[in-house]
Amino acid sequence: MNKKTIEDINVKGKRVLVRCDFNVPLNEKGKITNDNRIVAALPTIKYLMDHGARVILCSHLGRPKGEFKPEFSLKPVAKRLSELLEREVPLAEDVVGPSAHALAEKLQDGDVMLIENVRFHAEETKNDPEFAKQLASLAEIYVNDAFGTAHRAHASTEGVAHYLPAVAGFLIGKEISIMGGALENPEHPFLAIIGGSKVSDKIGVINNLLNKVDVLIIGGGMAYTFQKAMGGRIGNSIHEDDKMELAKELLAKAAYKGVRIVLPVDNEAGNAFSNDCLHITVHAQEIPDGFEGMDIGPVTREIFAGEIARAKTIVWNGPVGVCEFPTFAAGTRAVAEAVAKNTGVTIIGGGDSAAAITQMGLADKVTHVSTGGGASLEFLEGIELPGIAALNDKDE
Ligand code: 3PG
Repeated sequence: MNKKTIEDINVKGKRVLVRCDFNVPLNEKGKITNDNRIVAALPTIKYLMDHGARVILCSHLGRPKGEFKPEFSLKPVAKRLSELLEREVPLAEDVVGPSAHALAEKLQDGDVMLIENVRFHAEETKNDPEFAKQLASLAEIYVNDAFGTAHRAHASTEGVAHYLPAVAGFLIGKEISIMGGALENPEHPFLAIIGGSKVSDKIGVINNLLNKVDVLIIGGGMAYTFQKAMGGRIGNSIHEDDKMELAKELLAKAAYKGVRIVLPVDNEAGNAFSNDCLHITVHAQEIPDGFEGMDIGPVTREIFAGEIARAKTIVWNGPVGVCEFPTFAAGTRAVAEAVAKNTGVTIIGGGDSAAAITQMGLADKVTHVSTGGGASLEFLEGIELPGIAALNDKDE
């Protein structure tokens, strides 16, 4: 990464605005159900505190659409941060108002505070320059460590970087070096596993990865579009008729590039989209009418596991079945277990597959679980992320 990082600047005694991605899942009682993104921000926060910075944290949470809504308050985040840092992290009542300024003025070297959800202002998502200046007026240095939001050109992720010295935190550095390293300089065989429900969501990723990988496994709902494009019977399975030509083009591109595409050879199919439906194991191109493919079948699980075992670099994005239903989670679990067993570079890039591997207790068995959902997808597509592009270059 040719961007300056927190290690390239002197932060002692300076007020440092740190954009984190604390967009964490909450249950109906407002309790955080997965604190991975908060934990992932700790190395940067601790480094800044240990080096005498006066740390002002900011983030969005959910999509409150420019209005104060108590259910989107960062209160649960302030509480969790206080526990993890073993000191109270005060939360300002506002974002750029008197409370935020008063708390920021009071900070001593090594102190930390949090301002309220930046999306309580509609100007945030509009990347309004006045709002970006108001954010900048809280601090003397800007650090972006919100990898998960780096694909958004918002005031706190992009705009503010134009008004302060702007550098990357450790999490952004780690995400870019691991994922970028795999894309640019992988050990071969390089295997990508792409799942998820729609081809249309993953066109960019598949297109980019076809220039890099040796083998591409396609699973999940989007596999049925490919099966139908190849003349298979897919019953009532999810598919996109308007993407069949594109699926054929992607298969042709793979053949031209010498990339081996591995599609399921069998599926678990159900007579309804539910965990308790009647389900059968069928040939992947012989799914009867009245049934829809919900997971890969047992033979495919073996084939995928064999491919995964042979690879030296693996990027996995998207579950290969409807893994939120336990009846149809076996395929995604088999992939997760095979990836966890692989001793090469194993990267889980993305929201649902990251959630799946974490839920299966295997997250610590892989090289890297990205904190980005949309951001890692865009990164894997080869798109420059605006939140990173706006930071100061190393030679600036
Ligand atoms: C995410 O969860 O992917 C990020 O926090 C971005 O959130 P957004 O999709 O609401 O911009």
